[in-house]
Amino acid sequence: MTDSGIPGLPPTLRWKGGAQGLLVLLDQTRLPTAVVFRECGSAEAVHAAIRELCVRGAPAIGVAAAYGLCLGTRSHSGSSAGEFIEQVRKTCAFLESARPTAVNLSWALRRVCRRGEAAISAEADPQRAWELMLAEAHRMAEEDAAVCRRIGEVGAPLIRDGMGVLTHCNAGALATVAHGTALSPMYEAHRQGRRFRVFVDETRPLLQGARLTAFELSAAGLDVTVLCDGAAATLMAAGRVQLVVVGADRIAANGDTANKVGTYGVAIAARHHGVPFYVAAPRSTFDLSIPDGAQIPIEERSADEVRCGFGRTTVAGGAACYNPAFDVTPAGMIRGIITESGLLEPVSVENIRQIVGCGSCNEG
Ligand code: MRU
Repeated sequence: MTDSGIPGLPPTLRWKGGAQGLLVLLDQTRLPTAVVFRECGSAEAVHAAIRELCVRGAPAIGVAAAYGLCLGTRSHSGSSAGEFIEQVRKTCAFLESARPTAVNLSWALRRVCRRGEAAISAEADPQRAWELMLAEAHRMAEEDAAVCRRIGEVGAPLIRDGMGVLTHCNAGALATVAHGTALSPMYEAHRQGRRFRVFVDETRPLLQGARLTAFELSAAGLDVTVLCDGAAATLMAAGRVQLVVVGADRIAANGDTANKVGTYGVAIAARHHGVPFYVAAPRSTFDLSIPDGAQIPIEERSADEVRCGFGRTTVAGGAACYNPAFDVTPAGMIRGIITESGLLEPVSVENIRQIVGCGSCNEG
């Protein structure tokens, strides 16, 4: 998969070459002012790229890590079967430690790891097992693009002519292999000829909304307005938002949803103003092994991201900074979840089990 699905937007990630190839990432820390790529030839390089948010967004980090696992085990494919599997498991644990909140990371790693283990049990041939692991990573990249496209088709009917649609952070093509999750219904509605305005929270402290979401929506020709996070409630009070759609990093069995910090505040404002609040996510983002959002690990990032983001100190000396990267929106505040298998509405344990409960998901 080498196409973002958005004309003019470079791919978020792609594998370059065959068995001796490497992972090429669009460096998202440089957007929107520079379009540069970072080549990763080792698990360490992929780990660093995920940690530094060169590649970010739940589905994208899952697929990047799947390739990272292939890179970190390639040179061991000439070892014994036992040594190879040991290296697979070690590399998995290492890559999983890059970021804690998005469950897609461990989901993707487990899937490629299982492929390697099954191949070793069948043939005890590490070289062949490694090739099958790489094929699995390619398959996941293809699947992610197809799943996101389907999320767009499922969610597009929610968007009608003349609406104001608000989103937070970036859950677009840049956060996935192609099309995005929360932005995919917008791309599809636009493709179907509907006219609407997208309001994008800038998303403090790292500005994924202003830098990334506005970048890709504008590239696709949508009508985009960026606002400071604190202006979203006022915009709703003014009657200018008819729909909120956001992405997700992990959804618990009861529908509680972790997404970029600030999402919870948007949900509270939406509820107060009677604006329907939707989450868009693939089934791989559900974690049925945890009953509710209290169990979701929330990444806390460096205080410097708040104190001196983008190279300028903006916090008075002596003040501490609090920088959780995600928050949890309670299921009761979510009108529905747009998945590749259909619109999950209302959000309930039963509906989630029915749509999501299957062998391919993160089950308890
Ligand atoms: O810290 P980030 O930029 O990885 O946070 C990303 C988000 O919160 C996205 O909304 C989420 O991963 C969904 S991406 C389809």
